[in-house]
Amino acid sequence: MDQKLVVVEKKDQRLYDIAEKLTKHIHDVVIEYKVTEEEWISAIEFLTEVGVKNEYILLSDVMGVSVLVNDLAHHHDHEEHVTDHNVEGPLYRANAPLVKTPAQLCTDEAILNSEQPYVMVGQVLSVDGNPIPNAIVDVWQADEKGDYENEDPNQPEYNLRARIETDAKGRYEFKSVLPGGYEIGKGGPTGKFLNRIGRHAWRPAHIHFKIVAENFNELTTMVFIPNDPWIDSDAIGAVKDSLILDLKQVDSVSEQQKYGFNKAFSITEYNFKLIPEVN
Ligand code: BEZ
Ligand code: FE
Repeated sequence: MDQKLVVVEKKDQRLYDIAEKLTKHIHDVVIEYKVTEEEWISAIEFLTEVGVKNEYILLSDVMGVSVLVNDLAHHHDHEEHVTDHNVEGPLYRANAPLVKTPAQLCTDEAILNSEQPYVMVGQVLSVDGNPIPNAIVDVWQADEKGDYENEDPNQPEYNLRARIETDAKGRYEFKSVLPGGYEIGKGGPTGKFLNRIGRHAWRPAHIHFKIVAENFNELTTMVFIPNDPWIDSDAIGAVKDSLILDLKQVDSVSEQQKYGFNKAFSITEYNFKLIPEVN
């Protein structure tokens, strides 16, 4: 039952090859599972609903294709011992407040009322280890409940988002709260599909970054809070060992006072390494 796609005019060979391979794989699955007419119609109805609800990116995310395509686009980066890339996700907002280091991503009140205040420090470095001054560390994260500011009317505008400029030694520092994990949109067709095949929709707690510096390739990535219950089963498969933070709990009262905290907090040091731009 091998079918060649009939070509009337030779045009885009790469697209032709991909279409041919995809067609063959679909045929193979239909044959292997003896897919019925009812099943095929319901698959088409599912894909139609995914389109109507504008969930194709979400479907690509949960099938691991978004991360795979991102990995392939940056595969050479791994060889250069620079920071691993990751997908941007749908919750980035441009033009977050531009601030100098050290920064704070939320109100004093939010930090004082939080279960776990959080401090993150580090440097933006070139692959050769040289610091990059005046780099922009564009950071965005969910709150402790796992909600992003632009999806939660109770949070102030641009809460837990900032563009932090590194100092002369390439350093950045910010105070915040530890983000919570969250479930990606599960009310639509993608969520129902995950549920039917027995998968959950949780993403482990993480913090997103976009690092921009003159004469360097932009780096988009996310770092993960260790020991999260979903760290080994991220709904979009984005966890990479190199991006899991090493968090230290600080109980010393003098250290707490140094940061203006009234309770134990978590701190981590993480450096971002960028690749010089080739012209
Ligand atoms: C996120 O990390 O913000 C995200 C990624 C994929 C789907 C939904 C959210
Ligand atoms: Fe996220």
